[in-house]
Order: sequence, then structure tokens, then C-alpha cells
Amino acid sequence: MMIKLFNSLLCSMLLLSFASVAEVKDNLTYANYDQVNVTHAYLDLEIDFQQKAVKGFTDLTLNWLQDEPTLVVLDTRDLIIDRAMAQDEQGKWHNVAHQLASRDDVMGSKLTIDPKFQAKTVRIYYQSTEKASGLQWLGKEQTQGKKYPFMFSQNQAIHARSWIPIQDTPAVRMTYTARIKTDPALLAVMSANNEPNATKDGDYFFSMPQAIPAYLIAIGVGDLQFKAMSEQTGVYAESYILERAVAEFNDTQDMIDVSEAMYGEYRWGRYDLLILPPSFPFGGMENPRLSFITPTVVAGDKSLVNLIAHELAHSWSGNLVTNESWRDLWLNEGFTSYVENRIMERVFGNDRAIMEQVLGVADLQTDLADLPASDSILYLDLQGRDPDAAFSDVPYVKGQLFLMFLEQRFGREKFDPFVLDYFNHFAFKSIGTKEFISYLNTHLIHKYPGIVADKEVNEWIFGTGLPADAPQPQSDVFVKVEQQKRQWQAGELTLSQLPTANWTVHEWLYFINGLDRDLNEEKMAELDKAFNLTKSQNAEIAHAWYLLALHSGYDVIMPELEQYLIAIGRRKLIVPLYKKLAESEQGHVFAKRVFAIARPGYHPLAQGTVDDILSK
Ligand code: BES
Ligand code: ZN
Repeated sequence: MMIKLFNSLLCSMLLLSFASVAEVKDNLTYANYDQVNVTHAYLDLEIDFQQKAVKGFTDLTLNWLQDEPTLVVLDTRDLIIDRAMAQDEQGKWHNVAHQLASRDDVMGSKLTIDPKFQAKTVRIYYQSTEKASGLQWLGKEQTQGKKYPFMFSQNQAIHARSWIPIQDTPAVRMTYTARIKTDPALLAVMSANNEPNATKDGDYFFSMPQAIPAYLIAIGVGDLQFKAMSEQTGVYAESYILERAVAEFNDTQDMIDVSEAMYGEYRWGRYDLLILPPSFPFGGMENPRLSFITPTVVAGDKSLVNLIAHELAHSWSGNLVTNESWRDLWLNEGFTSYVENRIMERVFGNDRAIMEQVLGVADLQTDLADLPASDSILYLDLQGRDPDAAFSDVPYVKGQLFLMFLEQRFGREKFDPFVLDYFNHFAFKSIGTKEFISYLNTHLIHKYPGIVADKEVNEWIFGTGLPADAPQPQSDVFVKVEQQKRQWQAGELTLSQLPTANWTVHEWLYFINGLDRDLNEEKMAELDKAFNLTKSQNAEIAHAWYLLALHSGYDVIMPELEQYLIAIGRRKLIVPLYKKLAESEQGHVFAKRVFAIARPGYHPLAQGTVDDILSK
């Protein structure tokens, strides 16, 4: 009787403890990460530009969390799996069976390996295919230098699995090492310990000794040169843009210094930038030790370097403290947008930081106008979609506004130490929204009662749209631009009376984005004649101008728009233009024609997005 009671007690205790350990929070992975975790990955890969494939094997070191299971379930997408091996406790290798399930459009193909014992390490021989959603292969004619090919990875959110069989979830962290073989004329770099003076010989070794999730494993291979900006920072780029990038980004060390002063030690060693070809589908990607950066921010006047502040900020929010699922993306991006702006304030001053807040909020409002209410919630409901499909400014700017709201209510003297402690407390961990809320409650909301109510926090995180009392950043500089814009539109000022000679890119963006969408052709032509906007070399200004021109029917831009859409593949810049074009019959015809030319140069992600827009 006693024993029976004890048994059932033990049983329910076990169940309970399993429930807390075994809760699978990321449903975008097939991995049985509640039973076994990859703690280290070794990649042994050849980069084959002929076949546009990575080929070789990966060793995954395993840590078993439960006694019974022996199955290892991994994520793959469009991989060719040759064979698998498993190493037992004694270090002996065995050939083992594997099974590749059929392909799901969002998740890819589940790879199951069953050694029938709890393997210490599994080894998978494989190669990627041309379909790899996480890789872009550029032929030499598609690069600036025209002499050498280029390839790069973009793993976030769930594209690591398209070139590495892995537990592709941000909930699992691993260290990694790699041996990369390629053409001896090319340099390979990774999100790892890049040696500034590595000899180009086509055989490269990397080590990333800090545990990171699979979405932060990254590689770039091309005709890359290195130039230092400081002892700790430098730029990798094709030679055509190296000097310009170094000049543009030479505040990076200052950015690190002010970040450390606010948020604690930078824990990753070096911080370098890799400048990618213009087809890179994002502005930047925070691959640890080596942020990946679009060349479209090399503007010549440092006007777009908040991107560097952003990717650097991820060294705390995102890479150190990581969202455990893509539903919690706001923990990465909201915190990072907030920290980015704090860095900009310290390095470039208050006026600029506030202008960037205002522009961010305007972008958010544009997104909110189109999004279903359910996608305006910080704690996202992905509803089985690819996280790329639910991508918007909500996690970024609404997340940032929530943190600004807390900062304003509690004051920086209480809020800044809270953020610092938060980064230290969860360093090298992956956490979810619920853990964040419980930490927030203990260390801020309930610690200083009567300042912010629980239900306000809930409204921010689980409510739709923006709370009525959300911060509304106001920029004195923009107030003036607003006034001048109104006066010009009303015919009270001429263009030569506007103080545009002193305008920064931010003021230009605010001005153009604020103009009536149906400005007549005469006024458009007047602006264009005065400021040569159709030929603007600033990618953001050109984008804003082209969008306005498409709204107002100012067709003069079409030849330059065509060149722009062919030269650039950054989704944020091209997608709104394609969307607007697709609204009219004539625009749709133009878009189809230009896309046919541009498509081969776009990244698979951008190809897919524009395919969808133009097929509707
Ligand atoms: N980590 C993101 C890019 C990303 C997010 C890729 C989600 C895939 C899924 C990166 O840090 C980022 O936010 N980039 C922005 C920078 C901007 C907000 C300054 C971009 O690319 O525009
Ligand atoms: Zn980001």
C-alpha cells in the first residue's frame, strides 16, 4: 500500500518535472529538443561554386536530457542526406539508419536517426541543393569585381536547416567549429573567430566558443579584403567599397564603448562587419562577431549608421539573451531597437535619436494600417506560418515603444540598471515572453509599486495596436520641416525659400514621406528639378521618392526605378515598390518585366516575396 502510494506520488512528481523540462515551446522545429540537445556542431564543408552546393558532413555532439529515448530528430530542408553515423559512449563509430520525411512547405523535412543507443555524437554526410533558402550564390558576373563568385548565408529565422541538418530552434544553443574548403583565391569568414590576417589558401578553420542558436551560424565566401577600423573592429568587403565602408562606419568602436558603459561588457571578442552584395535581402544581420551589412547604407554621410548600432545592440539583446521561439521575436528586436536608439543618442546626440524614433513610429503606423489586428500583438501568433510571412515593424517599434514607456514611467535611474541586470541574469540563455514578464514583475513593476499596473504590461504585450498612452516622440527639427512643407504645398513658400541646404537625410525622409500622396505633376517636377530626387544616390531617399512618385503618377522616375529594382535586393526597399506597382494594370506590367530581369540577382527570400506579390 505504502509502496503503491509512493510509486504513484513519484510518478506524478516525475510527470510534473517532465512537464516543466519537456515543454516544447517552439513548434517551428521537428527536433525532440526536450529529450536531447545539440551542444556542439562541427561543420566540415566544401563550398562548391560550380554546383552551388555545400558538401561534406556535420558532427553534432549530444546531451541527453532523458534516460529512455535514443531517437535523434533534426530539421532539414531541401538537403540531400547521404548517410549517418553515430558514436557510442566508448567512442566507437557505427553506421546507422536514417529517415527523411516528406517536405513541408514551412518546416522542411524531418530527419530521424535511430542508433538504438544514446549516441554521444551523430555524423551526417550531406549536401545542400540549389533550392537552399538560406544561401545565395552569385556568379562572378553578378559581383562588382566581376572576377570571383560570392556566396553568403542568412539563417534567421528558419533557414539554417537548408544548409545544415540541425536542431533549428532558437531554444537550443551550441558552440561550433568548422573547416571550410573553397577556391584558394577566395576568403571565407564566419560568425566565429575571424583572423584579421588570415592567409588566403582556400582552407579555413573557425571556432565559436560561445553557445549560440543555429540561426546565428553564418558564412560568407568571396573576394574579400579586410581593413581594420580599430583594434577590435574592422570591415570585410569587396575592394570596390572597402575604403568607403571603413569611413562610413568608423564610429563602431565608439558605439561599442557607449554600449558597454550602459549595458555591461561586450562578451564576444572582436566585432567586424561584412559588407555583402546589394542583393542581401536585409539591412543587416547580427551574426555574432561579424554583422552582415547591406551596401545600401554606405551613403557617404553616416546618415544610415543606426543600422550598425542596431546590429551591435543585438550582441546584448538577441545574441546574449535570445528569444526561445519566433513568437517572442519582440524580445530580440524590440529590445534591440530600444538599445540601438540609446546608442545613437550617446554617439550622435539627442536630436538625431528622436528623429529616428519619429521615423520608426511612422513606419509602424504604415504597417499597422495594413496588418490584421492579430498581427499587431507583441507576443505573435504565427498560426503555422513561416515567421517571414508575419514579419513587420510591430516587434521592432511597438517593442521599442513599450520599453520607452517603462523608461519614462520609472525614469532612467531605475530602468537602466533593470536592463543591465536583465542582460546579465539571462546571459547565454534563451527565454520566452512569460519568463520576461515574471522577471519584469519582480525586478521593476512590483519592486516599485504604484508606477505601472500589471494590466498595462498585459495590454502592451497581449493587446492589439498601440495603447492610448503610448509614447509619441516629438522632434523639434521635424516640427519645422512639417511647417515648411505645409507652406510650400499651400504656395506660401517657394522651394528656394526652404532651408534644404542644411537638411540631413532624416529631414528629407520626413519631408518626402509627409508630402500629399496625390501631389500634382507640376509640383513633383518642381521638386525633382530643384533637388534631383529621381537620381538620388541615397537608397532610402530614392525609395521614399519613388514610392511617392508611384502614388502621384509621376512617370519620369520609371527608368531610374527600373535600375534601382535591378541593382538592389534589400526587401524593405523593393517590396513596397513592387506592391504599389502591382496595384495598377500598367504598373503590374512594368513590374513583371523588370522583375524578370532582376529576379536572377535576388536572394531566394526576395524572389519568393516578389513572386507572391506579382502572382496575385
Ligand atoms: N535580425 C534582424 C533581421 C531579421 C529579422 C532576419 C527577422 C530574419 C528574421 C536584423 O537585426 C534587423 O532587424 N535588420 C533590420 C535593421 C533595421 C531595423 C535597422 C533590417 O534589415 O532592416
Ligand atoms: Zn534586429
